[in-house]
Amino acid sequence: MTILVTGATGTVGRHVTEQLVRRGIAVRALTRNSERARTVLPAEAEIVVGDLMRPDTLREALRGVEAMFLIVSSDQPRADLNTDPRVVAMAAEAGVKRVVVLVGFEEGPVEQAVRESGMEWTLVKPVEFMANVLDDWAASIREEGVVRELNGNAPSARVHEGDIAAVAVEALLGDGHHGQSYVLTGPEVLTRVEAVEAIARGIGKDIRFEELTEEEARRKWRDQGYDEESVEFFVQMAFQPPASGHTVLPTVERVLGRPARTLAEWAAEHRHFLL
Ligand SMILES: NC(=O)c1ccc[n+]([C@@H]2O[C@H](COP(=O)([O-])OP(=O)(O)OC[C@H]3O[C@@H](n4cnc5c(N)ncnc54)[C@H](OP(=O)(O)O)[C@@H]3O)[C@@H](O)[C@H]2O)c1
Repeated sequence: MTILVTGATGTVGRHVTEQLVRRGIAVRALTRNSERARTVLPAEAEIVVGDLMRPDTLREALRGVEAMFLIVSSDQPRADLNTDPRVVAMAAEAGVKRVVVLVGFEEGPVEQAVRESGMEWTLVKPVEFMANVLDDWAASIREEGVVRELNGNAPSARVHEGDIAAVAVEALLGDGHHGQSYVLTGPEVLTRVEAVEAIARGIGKDIRFEELTEEEARRKWRDQGYDEESVEFFVQMAFQPPASGHTVLPTVERVLGRPARTLAEWAAEHRHFLL
């Protein structure tokens, strides 16, 4: 069986690709840049070029595929991914039987198309990724031993991106996941101050927390290249995070049969980026 992984070079997709390859599954990895993809993906993955915003570029990628991991957007600064919902009908027509969708902040037309597609489907809805630490905090931890952030009391049940991928892989390969909408959290709620303490424990190094004013935080995100909509979203997450973002659920453990990994474990795994 061949599985098409979209977003294969991204945070979650890279783990999905690696985990499927490790389980001996034939993976076709979609990218817009095959040269770059070759440097980050396992050699066993077949790399295929296509654009999720231009469904006509995906015919080759979908040929002979039985299941698909589908990404709908990216929240990297300056990313403009907005998957065309017609990709879903194309996949069904090409014979894809099962699709697992990494849902963005909320469901949209792609998820609607998946629900109506006739394929077996699972929606994966993670809260904040632990991997955001790499984009947001890693450089200042490494260089100055400090995290500068808005509202140190903001709570989050951050989830390990490898655990998100592991749930997606179970849904791609196992039975009993059709029609499920899995909200995925890590095993604990931590404020930003507590999250920094957990990272410090994980890597064995002291890290200071310095609280930014809202104005300073907005300036930092703009300087990093985020658009105004993203900046508003980050401010909202700091002061009015939705309860779902800081309510621990047992879903990861239920699907995987092992506990979700902690932020301290994540930090220890990523210590080479943080020290
Ligand atoms: N970060 C969080 O805390 C968080 C929380 C909940 C949900 N999410 C959701 O998770 C998703 C992001 O997942 P991620 O972080 O794993 O992805 P990511 O690291 O942002 O990577 C995006 C991927 O999409 C691919 N891509 C971008 N534009 C494309 C296009 N036009 N056609 C085909 N591929 C394209 C890129 O591949 P190439 O460059 O190789 O083409 C890359 O592999 C978003 O929907 C986000 O809303 C994120």
